[in-house]
Amino acid sequence: MNNCFSYLLIFSVLAGSMEKFNLSCGANPTYGFTAVPLTEANFKLQKPYDIPLEQRYSYVNGVHKLWVYADDKPHNPSSHTQPRTEIRMSGLDYSSGVWQFEGYGFVPNGTSGATIAQIHGAAHGATTLILRIYDGEMRYYSKDLVATDLYDKWFRLNIIHDLDKGMVTVFIDGVHKFEVKDKGPGDLYFKCGVYAAPANISYYMESRWRDIKIFKKC
Ligand SMILES: *[C@@H]1O[C@H](CO)[C@@H](O)[C@H](O)[C@H]1NC(C)=O
Ligand SMILES: *[C@@H]1O[C@H](CO)[C@@H](O)[C@H](O)[C@H]1NC(C)=O
Ligand SMILES: *[C@@H]1O[C@H](CO)[C@@H](O)[C@H](O)[C@H]1NC(C)=O
Repeated sequence: MNNCFSYLLIFSVLAGSMEKFNLSCGANPTYGFTAVPLTEANFKLQKPYDIPLEQRYSYVNGVHKLWVYADDKPHNPSSHTQPRTEIRMSGLDYSSGVWQFEGYGFVPNGTSGATIAQIHGAAHGATTLILRIYDGEMRYYSKDLVATDLYDKWFRLNIIHDLDKGMVTVFIDGVHKFEVKDKGPGDLYFKCGVYAAPANISYYMESRWRDIKIFKKC
């Protein structure tokens, strides 16, 4: 056996065991999950009620771009909530089992005080998980720090909601960043986009999303 071939063999064996190592460690958050087939109907847009969608949303080359202004109207005339332009994952509401959101997100520098992803619904209250960007940092609501230095770059976000264990886990770029108790069963679904926080918000808020997937553990 010549040297070149044996190096190649050793490398392949190493690479193979590395992969197994990664999988058994759960470095790939989607390992053991099955992707739910999605169509356009699963992506329902919410935007300020008095403005046409194209003034707050675009979809170009697979990238959903969503933006909103601090003085925009809520998503419907009877709502008193903060302004939002969001994708609500529709037809995928869940109330049991283990579910996962995956998407590649991008937040431009300047956007602050905006929820960019959430799990809507809870046994009590409106949401199970709110992930907000403040000054390039991601926080759980306005509290716990989840990740830093997120402006102007694509990052992979994975959110696992395990209703059996009552836990929510957040990964950024495949790295386990945050874990928190959930808020019980409810009419639960994932959302992403921009939804103004109650305070400390920038006038302009934007996030971009691509390759959005929903997974379920079987
Ligand atoms: C293992 O995980 C690391 C860090 O997430 C990654 O850089 C590497 O490519 C992975 N290796 C394999 C073989 O998947
Ligand atoms: C964001 O923009 C501000 C103002 O232009 C600048 O001072 C800051 O360094 C920028 N941050 C990043 C992470 O680029
Ligand atoms: C708004 O920002 C100020 C200054 O950083 C901080 O003291 C205050 O707690 C923030 N308010 C909220 C509701 O996050």
